[in-house]
Amino acid sequence: MSAVLPVLSTRLSAAAAAAFGTSYDPELRSSTKPEFGHYQSNLALRIGNALGLSPRDVAARLVAALRIEDLCRTPEIAGPGFINLTLLPETLAKAVNEPESFTSKGQRVVVDYSQPNVAKQMHVGHLRSTVIGDALCNVLEFAGYDVVRQNHVGDWGTQYGMMIEQLLEEGIAAESLDLEGLQRLYERSRKHFDADGTFAGKARLRVVALQSGDPETRAMWRHMVDVSLDDFDKVYELLGSNLERADVVGESAYNDDLPRVVAELEQQALLTESDGAMCAFLPGFLGRDGDPLPVIVRKSDGGFGYSATDLAAVRHRVSTLHADRIVYVVDHRQALHFDMIFTLARTAGWLPTTVPAEHVSFGTVLGPNGKPFKTREGGTVKLVDLLESAVARADALLAGREGVDRAATARAVGIGAVKYADLSSDRGNDYVFDLDRMVAMTGNTGPYLQYAHARLTRLLSKAGATGELTELKDPAEQRLALLLTGFAATVEQVAETLQPHRLCTYLYDVASALSSFYEQCPVLSSEGATRASRIALCAATRKVLQDGLGLLGIEAPDAM
Ligand code: ARG
Repeated sequence: MSAVLPVLSTRLSAAAAAAFGTSYDPELRSSTKPEFGHYQSNLALRIGNALGLSPRDVAARLVAALRIEDLCRTPEIAGPGFINLTLLPETLAKAVNEPESFTSKGQRVVVDYSQPNVAKQMHVGHLRSTVIGDALCNVLEFAGYDVVRQNHVGDWGTQYGMMIEQLLEEGIAAESLDLEGLQRLYERSRKHFDADGTFAGKARLRVVALQSGDPETRAMWRHMVDVSLDDFDKVYELLGSNLERADVVGESAYNDDLPRVVAELEQQALLTESDGAMCAFLPGFLGRDGDPLPVIVRKSDGGFGYSATDLAAVRHRVSTLHADRIVYVVDHRQALHFDMIFTLARTAGWLPTTVPAEHVSFGTVLGPNGKPFKTREGGTVKLVDLLESAVARADALLAGREGVDRAATARAVGIGAVKYADLSSDRGNDYVFDLDRMVAMTGNTGPYLQYAHARLTRLLSKAGATGELTELKDPAEQRLALLLTGFAATVEQVAETLQPHRLCTYLYDVASALSSFYEQCPVLSSEGATRASRIALCAATRKVLQDGLGLLGIEAPDAM
């Protein structure tokens, strides 16, 4: 059994084809009746208009041709010629009992996400990319895609020449530095570079040594990268991210491809020299002043930059990883960059039109003052600190609860609250990092959904064995059941639009329908077939909540 709505649509189309030889998309809408499972189609009005026939007559002929008695009550014709369909409760029950499953799409999606920078702490901007990226990968995998995660870590560039040269000058062993130490080293070397021309010259030579693979230089660089990656792994662990070390394919991985990328662009006559830099000027890309905007593929000092690396990455993802679709989860400020990279890569023939490349852009995390989130001193807020404060907040809420594993639950609730807040509004919007709101047990929050799941788990453990859904008498039951049948369609929609908030909204609707169901329909105190059926409905709801939260990367504890 697949989702009910598409089946109804197909049957209506078939009736139109049989009666009128036309093919229309029937556009079914849920009707405004208070009970659910009612649909209305305006197909007869559209056909009537197109063919100059009376819509009510068209409706009568459509209904006569419509084979739908296995799914719906006898169709009714209403008003000017609407066709009203009402699902049989058995149809709904069957759809809940046999949820849709996905099969392999035979397509590979490469997802570029998280992408922190070496020698810097992960900050709240990386939270969004990591949380959204994880959720999208889960959803895409569930929907039948083969997903390849790529953590495009910022581990390459001129700053490593400065930092290594600074280390050598200060006589500090690279091994003695942790991530904080690296961050301070970076700040010192930056100042030094800007103030001292001799040092700057040495740093530039050091970059050349790094890029050409000088062993001593590479060893020091490697150490900085490893220290940073160890730290990122700790954040991923706390966050419950799926990212693994094997997913790290940093900017450095493309070093050897860069000269070839530039040479190919040159051969294709796509490059122009401008102030000593090699640039591609693409039609339609103009700056504020109206001047053409360059994609700088080789800088005037001969070094390659961020854009060249991204071009090499596109090429690698298409030709080596065999991507059928490429997704970049990066904040909205890089929209122009990706627009230009995709355009240039298509022009150069590295990104075929059959492979969509999508920038999954997202807004900024704001502090309580409505400005980009900063510490009181104006520094970046460390992601670990934020996450730990969320867990502490959740822990305080759990005080006095019995039968819960306090530490594990506080972690699940605190982290879940932060993730859900990030995922639940349109990702293009900015949002305020407000822990009180995130951990609230009411409203559209992570803890509200987790609580709905935990309460169902408790109910089911008291209920004993569960069977199948057999009857759906009460409108509140019907509404809940109907929502449950929409799970797969929602997942598919998120896989298509890459908008995780749609799954959040769906799960919130399910949890709200569940609470009306509790109000209207006694479960444990009901009897016989009704009791068994309601228990089955609870079990199906629990599964949808558990699977849905799982796709969002949010744990669903059994008790809280
Ligand atoms: N590391 C970059 C930053 O923190 C983001 C990288 C995004 N991915 C890419 N392929 N350019 O801003």
